[in-house]
Amino acid sequence: MDASGNDSRYAGRLRAALTDLLVAQGAIHDQRVEAAFRAVPRHLFVPQVPLEIAYTDDVVLMKRNQAGVAISSVSQPTVVALMLEQADLQPGHRVLEIGSGGYNAAMLHELVGPTGHVTTIDIDQDVADRARRGLDAAGYPEVQVLRTDGEFGCPESAPYDRVVVTVTAWDVAPAWMTQLAPGGRIVVPLRLRSQTRSIAFDLLDGFLESRSMAVCGFVCMQGVGASYERYVPLQGDLVSLTFDEDQVDEQEPPERVLDQPRESAWSGVLMNREEALSDLDLWLASTLPGYCVLSAERRALKKGLVTPVPRWGASAIASGNSLGYLTARPAADPDFVELGANAHGSAAQDFAQLLVDQVSQWDKSFRGGPGPTLQIHPAVFPPEQLPPGFHLNTRHSQVTISWP
Ligand SMILES: C[S@@+](CC[C@H](N)C(=O)[O-])C[C@H]1O[C@@H](n2cnc3c(N)ncnc32)[C@H](O)[C@@H]1O
Repeated sequence: MDASGNDSRYAGRLRAALTDLLVAQGAIHDQRVEAAFRAVPRHLFVPQVPLEIAYTDDVVLMKRNQAGVAISSVSQPTVVALMLEQADLQPGHRVLEIGSGGYNAAMLHELVGPTGHVTTIDIDQDVADRARRGLDAAGYPEVQVLRTDGEFGCPESAPYDRVVVTVTAWDVAPAWMTQLAPGGRIVVPLRLRSQTRSIAFDLLDGFLESRSMAVCGFVCMQGVGASYERYVPLQGDLVSLTFDEDQVDEQEPPERVLDQPRESAWSGVLMNREEALSDLDLWLASTLPGYCVLSAERRALKKGLVTPVPRWGASAIASGNSLGYLTARPAADPDFVELGANAHGSAAQDFAQLLVDQVSQWDKSFRGGPGPTLQIHPAVFPPEQLPPGFHLNTRHSQVTISWP
């Protein structure tokens, strides 16, 4: 391929093929989103990778920090499509994107059209410069790019009909709500008890209410809104537990708790190997005291310290001397597994039983349902007036998770 017309024709064919694939896989449902995917030349936002990579349905990593942790990327097309559809953008909308790269901002511009306006902000000057270059090269000079901390939104161009956050947040910053126009929507990858979901929230009377949610993964927020998770290594780091920032009171089990005898309990609940456990994990997170997420190295499995747990971590409960976690064993039908729990420590039997009881309750009452609704009220809202449900407090907000 040469650097001019042939390259761009080839890129166009690859872009059409990627868009066809996303439609066929059900990642894109909305024809306007499909048209935006056909229009925006993704390769101009990731010029360092070959065209074939630019048009693969994968994230392109753009920057790591000194510790080697990914801090900036151009998002995976499937996730871009998900969030664009959640945002329900209309011609004429004013949009703020928090976390730049240029690609998604160009998509946003395609959807709001010439009567709308897109502002994209990034905390990192390198990223803002890169986004500007990409947007200019791709023919989107009217998209505004600024370097600023997303915690404070961007008051200069407010109010916004939509705020689209493309970096994992643990909280909803007050500025996002105050800069939102009446009836506006925020789409944000929100971390709840170490699980991240892209959630579309509508602004109601001084609070936000969720309209849709889907599991996703993003790099972490930096700056004033940065949060932390407590990482607890077990068995010499072969296994670890993660507690979220609000879980300051949760106790860590002893480092060698997995050496203690294992108790198991089985729920009789079968799952197709392809079925996502995301709703179940959120149900457990919102009902079990001591909730945390257990991750294990392959060597921990080989040594028999743990039985199989999902790649992204298993729902677990911990206390001062005990630990229980969700696991699965093959069912008679090879496409299915049975959910169960293992536990160690003095409360092992109770923990294993508690976990499988909650699995059974979820199976009977919520499996296959619409999933939970989230409400976000400001921290100053009177707690006694919050709706019923599971409540957790972040720095600026009170989060209510209610199950229908
Ligand atoms: C996944 S990337 C954004 C992807 C991008 N929207 C695209 O078009 O593909 C996340 C970005 O968020 C930025 N970021 C992290 N913390 C931020 C903050 N507090 N304010 C603004 N940007 C932030 C990072 O520098 C990073 O470039």
